[in-house]
Amino acid sequence: MKKIIVAIDGPAASGKSSTARRLARSLGYVYIDSGAMYRACALAAIRAQLDIYNTTEILHMLSLTDIRLEQSEAGNKVILNGEDVSEAIRSEEISRLASDISAIPIVRDRMVELQRQMALEGGVVMDGRDIGTVVFPQAEVKFFMIADVCERAKRRFKELQDKGIEADIEIVLSELRTRDENDTNRKVAPLKPAPDSILIDTSHLSLDEQVAILRQHIKQRVERQ
Ligand code: DC
Repeated sequence: MKKIIVAIDGPAASGKSSTARRLARSLGYVYIDSGAMYRACALAAIRAQLDIYNTTEILHMLSLTDIRLEQSEAGNKVILNGEDVSEAIRSEEISRLASDISAIPIVRDRMVELQRQMALEGGVVMDGRDIGTVVFPQAEVKFFMIADVCERAKRRFKELQDKGIEADIEIVLSELRTRDENDTNRKVAPLKPAPDSILIDTSHLSLDEQVAILRQHIKQRVERQ
């Protein structure tokens, strides 16, 4: 089967990353979590105590920042300037700052450039907010995953509980709403479905069902080529 690019976009906690990771493994593809790259930028900005709205400071930070995604049996690692920051980028503070920093055009330009380089060979499943619209408008298959915001808050809350992190579901819900608002209404590359994307509502789907549905669509699209 020809190795293609599969783009998966959608709001936070809509099931994108778990599905994309499993889908990539089942296809023998590389999984690229583009959100992790914006998270790594946010962490770099916090550590350098930057004013993210100061263009000179951001440009300087970007020129000194090396972000790599490493595939391993145990899962993907996010490497920032040689350090494994896979855990450090998952805090709520970083979630908020990643959403803010991702609205800055020079940050997006740099991340999009890196994302395109990572997919030069094809055989990639990439998830994010603008993968089907901006990063790979030519992607052979595009999905837009959505789920009811209360369902997404429940999932995120359970993830935090499973990690032993104390959380309040009302706060999780309100933070998700704020991030949806930011990601959807920003001027550059806002979260929106590509016109040729396939809409998948995961509100009532298990992970296995999601992966099976996506695989079926991919099979149909590839066979038609
Ligand atoms: O997918 P995530 O929650 O880890 O992403 C973190 C933030 O990065 C999210 O609030 C929006 C931003 N993002 C983006 O703007 N474009 C992408 N392709 C991926 C993520």
